[in-house]
Amino acid sequence: MTETYLVTGGGGFIGSHIVDELLSRGHAVKVLDNFSTGRRQNIAHFAQDIDLVEGDVRSYERANTAVKGVDVVIHLAALPSVPRSVQDPLTTTEVNITGTLNVLLAARDREVRRVVVASSSSVYGANDFLPKHEELIPHPISPYGVSKLAAEQYAMAFNAVYGLETVALRYFNVFGPRQDPNSQYSGVVALFLRLGSEGSPVTVCGDGTQTRDFTYVANVVDASLLAADALQASGSVLNIGCGASYSVLDLIAAVEKATGRPLELRFGAARPGDVKHSFANIDRARARLGYEPSVPFDAGILRTYEAAVT
Ligand SMILES: NC(=O)c1ccc[n+]([C@@H]2O[C@H](COP(=O)([O-])OP(=O)(O)OC[C@H]3O[C@@H](n4cnc5c(N)ncnc54)[C@H](O)[C@@H]3O)[C@@H](O)[C@H]2O)c1
Repeated sequence: MTETYLVTGGGGFIGSHIVDELLSRGHAVKVLDNFSTGRRQNIAHFAQDIDLVEGDVRSYERANTAVKGVDVVIHLAALPSVPRSVQDPLTTTEVNITGTLNVLLAARDREVRRVVVASSSSVYGANDFLPKHEELIPHPISPYGVSKLAAEQYAMAFNAVYGLETVALRYFNVFGPRQDPNSQYSGVVALFLRLGSEGSPVTVCGDGTQTRDFTYVANVVDASLLAADALQASGSVLNIGCGASYSVLDLIAAVEKATGRPLELRFGAARPGDVKHSFANIDRARARLGYEPSVPFDAGILRTYEAAVT
């Protein structure tokens, strides 16, 4: 059955991949974005095929306009960076928490079938149990992590109080084509691939032994669309990663392999608000969504590099 989806943040990295997949499955798609961190070039190839609502999720009116006629909302619009949130916690709070509340309210008011909310592994923060599973007590250590925890809890509260179907997905370190490599807040994979391709030196924050569950974007797209439909999923918070652990030094080796040249490394201070180790237990997503990551780390790095150079 084809439906109408709203992808907030559909001009961004993950959002534009979700829109691609929705269109390929024949769904109608609306996008709400203010292009603050997203890029118009991300949507250029499908601009004719979507209904674009330019605007800010901090406005209930704008969210309400965007949700009109929509069956499912995939809510990704956010300021998605730990360092940005450390520099400007107030704006992160307004966009990530108030923005989410506006989208949920609009979805409730317009009787949307389901809302999928993008949360983040950063909610685990200083809870150092590994692998991370959803029963752990969250302990965010950055304003960004706090904002994502609040967003997912609002989603769960709307499920409990208003009966709105909601699912919150804790994405783990997503990477892939279209991730902005040029912002000061760039994700580490996009940044290292760009610097590696240019032959520019790479600064590693800390000693490089910190680990992440680097997750190729196609896996996150699969999970997000499963979450829109799976009967068992409503009212759930679910980890979405690969269930594997790679260090920044492993990432450097994978980038060197993909680009075919050694990286010139420099080591700097660890970033405030960053956690030392993170990888996901994805059993709950397997059980409730039927999710299985299909693109492993090395293959994802290669695909990302190839997309950047072609
Ligand atoms: N990339 C990751 O590793 C990762 C990990 C965990 C969670 N997430 C979450 O996934 C979502 C998408 O992240 P992304 O990596 O694609 O980042 P992105 O910056 O590419 O996408 C975010 C999008 O939201 C839009 N946006 C920002 N503020 C807005 C506002 N006030 N009103 C309307 N639109 C606004 C941006 O313009 C952008 O298009 C975010 O919610 C992020 O917190 C991402």
